[in-house]
Amino acid sequence: MKVQALPSVEGNFNLKNYEEAAESFDWSTVEQQFTWSETGKLNLAYEAIDRHVSGDRANKVALYYSDANRDEQYTFEDMKKYSNKAGNILRDAGVKKGDRVFIFMPRSPELYFAVLGAIKIGAIVGPLFEAFMEGAVRDRLEDSDAKVLVTTPALLERVPVGDLPNLESVFIIDESYEENGPYLNFLTRLNGANEDLDIEWVDREDGLILHYTSGSTGKPKGVLHVHNAMLQHYQTAKWVLDLQEDDIYWCTADPGWVTGTSYGIFGPWLVGATNVIRGGRFSPQDWYETLERYKVTVWYSAPTAFRMLMSAGDEVLKKYDLSSLRHLLSVGEPLNPEVVRWGMKVFDLRIHDTWWMTETGAQIICNYPCMEIRPGSMGKPIPGVKAAIIDDQGNELPPNRMGNLAIQKGWPSMMRTVWNNEEKYKSYFEIEGWYVSGDSAYMDEDGYFWFQGRIDDVIMTAGERVGPFEVESKLVEHPAVAEAGVIGKPDPVRGEIIKAFIALRDGYEVSDELQEDIRNFVKKGLAAHAAPREIEFRDKLPKTRSGKIMRRVLKAWELDLPTGDLSTMED
Ligand code: PRX
Repeated sequence: MKVQALPSVEGNFNLKNYEEAAESFDWSTVEQQFTWSETGKLNLAYEAIDRHVSGDRANKVALYYSDANRDEQYTFEDMKKYSNKAGNILRDAGVKKGDRVFIFMPRSPELYFAVLGAIKIGAIVGPLFEAFMEGAVRDRLEDSDAKVLVTTPALLERVPVGDLPNLESVFIIDESYEENGPYLNFLTRLNGANEDLDIEWVDREDGLILHYTSGSTGKPKGVLHVHNAMLQHYQTAKWVLDLQEDDIYWCTADPGWVTGTSYGIFGPWLVGATNVIRGGRFSPQDWYETLERYKVTVWYSAPTAFRMLMSAGDEVLKKYDLSSLRHLLSVGEPLNPEVVRWGMKVFDLRIHDTWWMTETGAQIICNYPCMEIRPGSMGKPIPGVKAAIIDDQGNELPPNRMGNLAIQKGWPSMMRTVWNNEEKYKSYFEIEGWYVSGDSAYMDEDGYFWFQGRIDDVIMTAGERVGPFEVESKLVEHPAVAEAGVIGKPDPVRGEIIKAFIALRDGYEVSDELQEDIRNFVKKGLAAHAAPREIEFRDKLPKTRSGKIMRRVLKAWELDLPTGDLSTMED
């Protein structure tokens, strides 16, 4: 079925003419937005916060924060003060430029102070999603040689401090916490800290943030971004988020994932916008209330969330006044045309799909207010970045041919390495001149890109990226599990759910209790979102002669598809 295009919207947007900008855009013009282009002193956190205080935004609200227990607001001046204090207490604990400071906690103002403070003293921030359990936390702290961790008493139970010899200090967010050895009280120290900070001026290519993300093999990989990424964070916050001076902006992503930092912290604050952060879990009522209460104008969320809101029904929605909204965006998974149609119906607004990855650091292929939207398409590359569909030899394919979605190497926010794993880093760039994304797509004759799927086995469940290998490794640690193969199974709400095929060890019987026990084992060992929602027991799993589980065959079984070439399968 041909989906009807949605015309561009009328308004005063930052990107007025896509074609013109795409033809002539030069990244060096963005540098002039920052004070370092004059002073030579560079630090992303300074540009995101302090610059606005020296300018005329000192008393503008930078952060509205609320959850079930807290309701607070902070101006840019407040943010400068608290991030300076956080920088001082981290420095007092011995943090130096380039050290890794991990932040493992639910959203709270302190999380934002800690992230900005760490960046201000030149540290590399490692944000960890609060749902991670001990195994996942250990892998990341170990691989990155983290020196300092900021966490809460509840999450501390999942940090194997004794096994991490390089972890020198652990800051605990709890007023009454009694300091003891490496355990320091974040809040009392923050209160007592100096409001002035000697910012560590860094090089554009110095490390900024380390986001761990999953591939189809091996443990999660630490994707390193550098301060230079601010050029693209800033420019896409203008072009794509379309942030204007009076906007109230809400990005629903957690800073444990790249969307929650690039567009929950960096982009919006680099352009001096007011940022709404809502703690706590998703519920349609809560989310609509948040939109209504803060009169949110620009809202960045994900297809799973939109689908959940859609299935909650329009009756719930009608109880709220959402008329402040003017610009909606989505990221993380394919945005179904049906959801776009729902958005048109209930908000009378287009939902702008955006495509990018942890590795790209910022938005790459997007829909813009000034452009027609073709529902189901991810849009067009941002001006100044070239994307293309290439074959495995690196030849650009003509329109409407499916191939590798690739980006010409060298955009400002490109990852600079994979921590401790240069080989993995290089594997993304094996085709001369290109970064190969691992997604397949095609481009139509008018230059719109259309997502087709992942080329590897990476699972996207509710917008979260899960590596099947990580789940399989955890599953086989369970005493009853002999072999496990994990796939993403299509799901109407979550995009995909995790399904595990399991062969049991001798002496174990299939039962509902065992199934539940195995599921909980992954939940507790890895993370709730990584636990298989479905488990199917099989006597034997399809394997190659070298013993690798053939996920492709599992997927074909599941979807009733032809299994393809089985010549490498054992027996
Ligand atoms: O498969 C693509 C999917 O998410 C992957 C990247 O996941 P992650 O690094 O966790 O970053 C997610 C948010 C930046 C991609 O390789 N993906 C992301 N955006 C879209 C998408 N798939 C379809 N449409 C999108 N708009």
